[in-house]
Amino acid sequence: MTVAGRLAQIAEIGRDCVRGGYSRHLFDSTDAPLRAWFRRSGEELGLIVEEDADANLWAWWHPPAGPAGTRSAIACGSHLDSVPGGGAYDGPLGVASGFEAVAQLQAAGFAPHRPLAVCAFAEEEGSRFGLPCLGTRLLIGSVDPASVLQRRDAAGTTLADAWRDSGRDVARIGPDPERLGDLEAFVELHVEQGRDLADRGVPVSVASAIIPHGRWRLTISGEGNHAGTTTMDRRADPIVALARATLAARDVARDAAGARATIGRLRVVPNGTNVIASRVDAWLDLRAQTDEDVHRQYGRTIERIRAEVQAERCALDVHQESFSTRVDFDASLTARVAAAVEPEFGKVPAIPTGAGHDAGILAEVIPTAMIFVRNPTGVSHAPAEEASEEDCEAGARALAAALRSLAGAP
Ligand code: GLV
Ligand code: MN
Ligand code: MN
Repeated sequence: MTVAGRLAQIAEIGRDCVRGGYSRHLFDSTDAPLRAWFRRSGEELGLIVEEDADANLWAWWHPPAGPAGTRSAIACGSHLDSVPGGGAYDGPLGVASGFEAVAQLQAAGFAPHRPLAVCAFAEEEGSRFGLPCLGTRLLIGSVDPASVLQRRDAAGTTLADAWRDSGRDVARIGPDPERLGDLEAFVELHVEQGRDLADRGVPVSVASAIIPHGRWRLTISGEGNHAGTTTMDRRADPIVALARATLAARDVARDAAGARATIGRLRVVPNGTNVIASRVDAWLDLRAQTDEDVHRQYGRTIERIRAEVQAERCALDVHQESFSTRVDFDASLTARVAAAVEPEFGKVPAIPTGAGHDAGILAEVIPTAMIFVRNPTGVSHAPAEEASEEDCEAGARALAAALRSLAGAP
């Protein structure tokens, strides 16, 4: 098998007929077939497949058998969910490469000295319930299960109801210190989400850091009215306020080196062509180099947005949906991963990323590292996301070399 062959097995699951690419969200119609693929992929390699209480999947090459808390296991993997109309690689590449790396190690007669797992974590993108890395945040206990269960998707369904409807037990959700206590390290392979490796002309790298980001829901309320009978001087139009707010967020980010601001999701009430809207919900994503930078950027942005919204005679309500702190990856694990891949790839660069990852959440409790695979388009969270078959195979070999080094004889 190849990584491309593994990805081809899920290529028809969750195709987005509006944007192209894939829409795969927690517990939607794609969830069960993707989990079934994960189970099949693991079982074909003789791995023991299980789901934890937080809907994360684990495929074990020798599950931990000793006393809990021995910190001996090595895990790799990523996620299978996507953004709406996302690319084929963000997430699935890391899972498929995990299985392929295990297959390569088995074919080479490698006998792991430690338990080794391939994982697929739940709702990494936060696309359905608004909390990125839901599965790993629950696993490590950095979010309160009761409040997470109250989150609603765009249709108003609570996570609690979706969880129950999927046949899972809400009472079991939450931290799993025993499982975490078995883990020594986690390595996430991921498609690169920029053009750095393409520009350098190298197929793989390791990661140095993840920049922080926060997400907020802005609710701008105005006066719903008739598009034809309401003169321009008598309007309180939340769409106009949003347009001004969007420019303000862009301008604040442009003024701060390395900052980013995005409003990429809207809900317009009532969303009619000949209707001045009553309300618009807009989701604001802010990123910068340090946590303090993001907080500062947020303060400036909201001050500017408030003024723009008031100038349009509208009202603003702000609700924070998530915050993901800066992560500097474990230097010694990253050095071990880099050293393991160097015999084939030479000295690999260590590059920072603007995208969030489960490896960043798990870094709060265990050493984690990442391997990036070149993306010739540099595009991500869109159908144009790309990785050549050759580079995908290179990535799997790099991951196999890292796992061999981490899980091999001491
Ligand atoms: C996830 O990919 C994010 O960075 O938003
Ligand atoms: Mn993503
Ligand atoms: Mn991802």
